[in-house]
Amino acid sequence: MSRLVNMTRMLKVAKEEGYAVAQFNINNLEWTQALLRAGEEAQSPIILGVSEGAGRYMGGATVVSAMVNALMEAMNITIPVALHLDHGSSVEVCKEYIDAGFTSVMLDLSSKPIDENIAASREVVEYAHDRGASVEAEVGIVGGEEDGVVGNVQYADLDECVRMVKEAGIDALAAALGSIHGPITGEPKLGFTEMKEISEATQAPLVLHGGSGIPEHQIKKAIERGHAKINVNTELQQQWAKGVRDTLDNDAKIYDPRKVMKSGFDKITAEALDVMEMFGSVNKA
Ligand code: 13P
Repeated sequence: MSRLVNMTRMLKVAKEEGYAVAQFNINNLEWTQALLRAGEEAQSPIILGVSEGAGRYMGGATVVSAMVNALMEAMNITIPVALHLDHGSSVEVCKEYIDAGFTSVMLDLSSKPIDENIAASREVVEYAHDRGASVEAEVGIVGGEEDGVVGNVQYADLDECVRMVKEAGIDALAAALGSIHGPITGEPKLGFTEMKEISEATQAPLVLHGGSGIPEHQIKKAIERGHAKINVNTELQQQWAKGVRDTLDNDAKIYDPRKVMKSGFDKITAEALDVMEMFGSVNKA
């Protein structure tokens, strides 16, 4: 039996209580262990995000779902964990991931005309809700590049956001307001005024993509203005690479993969703990 939950209740409570749940993207088994360990230590709910690319890399949706469930059982994980498809590219892919046991999906048709985006999101919502899964959709376009998904920043339109929430019935709204996937230099130009307006008009928990590198003062403002989920990926990858690189640089004789990669995964756990502290989700499990 699956121990996973969807993200509906998690995000509703987070929005009411003024904190955000982190979505951490996973890439393999040890990555998942590192994040489950961090979540359990912090007693924080977490969302494990899987892009289609990462899903393929790990052997497909059923492999990922089986792996996460087995790890939760073996590690005796007690915190709420949602397994979420990040940036699903079609209705069919979302259905495939739900059928494989994912408890949440994002349909990202943000580059399509809004009517098409809403209609497809509605179809995913009907399928997902019948099976206990939650749904996120994107309006406007998050900038940068992630796993081949490229976007030039386009701010979300208030009326389109209201329509998406009302007509499609989604559980979380990624309203793009200046954030960027991947490494960033300086501070992103986030639309805080629009954020507040969209949050108040839709009442939906907002999702901030491109969480890596956003300074704490902007994160806090985004949470105050309705963000209940913040996605973090690049920062974890950078920390992992730093740990592995240091190990290899410091020991020319090392070859056991478990030893080579260990400090990378320890760094992921440490980074995730810092992030959850910043988002205010510690002890909210
Ligand atoms: P970053 O890689 O910039 O943290 O973005 C993650 C993300 O938004 C996943 O959807």
